[in-house]
Amino acid sequence: MVRRAAIVGAGQTRFGALDAGPRELLRTAVAQAFASVDRGADRASVDSAFLATLGFGGWQIGNSAAVLAEESGVAGVPTTRVENACASGGFALRAAVDAVGSGSAELVLVAGVEKMTDIPNARRRYWLGVSGDTEWERLAGLTFAGVYGLIASRYLAEHHLGPEALTAVAVKNHENGALNPNAHFRKVVKAEEVAAAPRVADPLGLYDCCPVSDGAAALLVAPAEHARRFTDAPVYVEGVGAASDYLAVQERADLTRFAASRRAADQAFRSGALERSAVSFLEVHDCFTIGELLALEDLGFAPPGEAARMTLAGETRRDARLPVNPDGGLKAKGHPIGATGVGQAYEAFCQLRGSAGARQVPGAERALAHNVGGAGATATVTIFGVG
Ligand code: COA
Repeated sequence: MVRRAAIVGAGQTRFGALDAGPRELLRTAVAQAFASVDRGADRASVDSAFLATLGFGGWQIGNSAAVLAEESGVAGVPTTRVENACASGGFALRAAVDAVGSGSAELVLVAGVEKMTDIPNARRRYWLGVSGDTEWERLAGLTFAGVYGLIASRYLAEHHLGPEALTAVAVKNHENGALNPNAHFRKVVKAEEVAAAPRVADPLGLYDCCPVSDGAAALLVAPAEHARRFTDAPVYVEGVGAASDYLAVQERADLTRFAASRRAADQAFRSGALERSAVSFLEVHDCFTIGELLALEDLGFAPPGEAARMTLAGETRRDARLPVNPDGGLKAKGHPIGATGVGQAYEAFCQLRGSAGARQVPGAERALAHNVGGAGATATVTIFGVG
């Protein structure tokens, strides 16, 4: 029988342009995760580990799982690197849930890390670009901002919208990020500033893009039935879904719907036997503002075009009906590729334990995290709860 999993400890460094190198970032996040466990978890009790990274920012492209073993003091246990571009973290958590579920592990360390700010722009563009399609996208000069810019243009045209809904996502997520001490940007921006910012890939401007960030996050995952050996406040993994799609967007039937997100969401809700209405807040993959609108629709929280209206009406603000990205999202909290999905789970852990401070979503009981690799090529959806 498959065992349910629970998160019993979690940690995260600040995301941003940081002085620390990737090893130090990993050490810090892992130490925080252990420190957050009330009792009974030391490094010797970890029997499996997964590292989410695209390659430490190009610094350690191969065999980086061994670095996690070294830096977290778990050398000796099987340690596996999970690389699914920006969805690496979500997939690493899923691997841990499977390891616990199958009975092959009793305490799993999941960590994500990236060090992106200390490499020159051209090299970084290449290193990020290789996660997209090579023949039809990268070699044609298309960056991720370029692909999402095309998707945004199509979305706005299909639904007869101006860029205001994209702007509203940026303003909201910057507002949330300003309350998060771990966020890359703690700066509130006005709609006029977003609209007047330099264009990156029309209709996306500077404030429609996630930044280039350093950071790390870590989780400790145990079987739900033993979770209270470690903590009085476990956060249960109630549903998990994952899927993939064609890598190149031109191969897909639809530019404004990510089939991988849809499939992953349906699977997660089915596996947890949960309704959408049971979710208190969402952490979605807003690498570009359009990503948040697509996510609301793909995850089943809004019909096509309706995510724009909901956002403009303020329904996704932290204190509203369906808070989205209370930590600031990738947009303001930052996007250190491999750390992002693990950081979303860290946010769920903090919120559901009521320890999210100024950005706390009142009464949060169930959270959904949505992590996307590239422009919709892979996706995970994880539902967390305290029940
Ligand atoms: N949002 C808001 N402000 C940003 C920003 C962002 N995404 N990126 C940079 N800034 C700010 C900086 O803080 C800096 O502000 P300052 O002058 O007040 O110090 C200013 O803009 C210039 O920063 P710089 O680093 O020189 O910007 P840039 O022009 O080199 O890079 C982007 C801007 C948007 C191109 C870059 O952040 C980017 O490539 N983002 C996307 C990353 C990506 O594709 N990730 C994978 C997603 S699938």
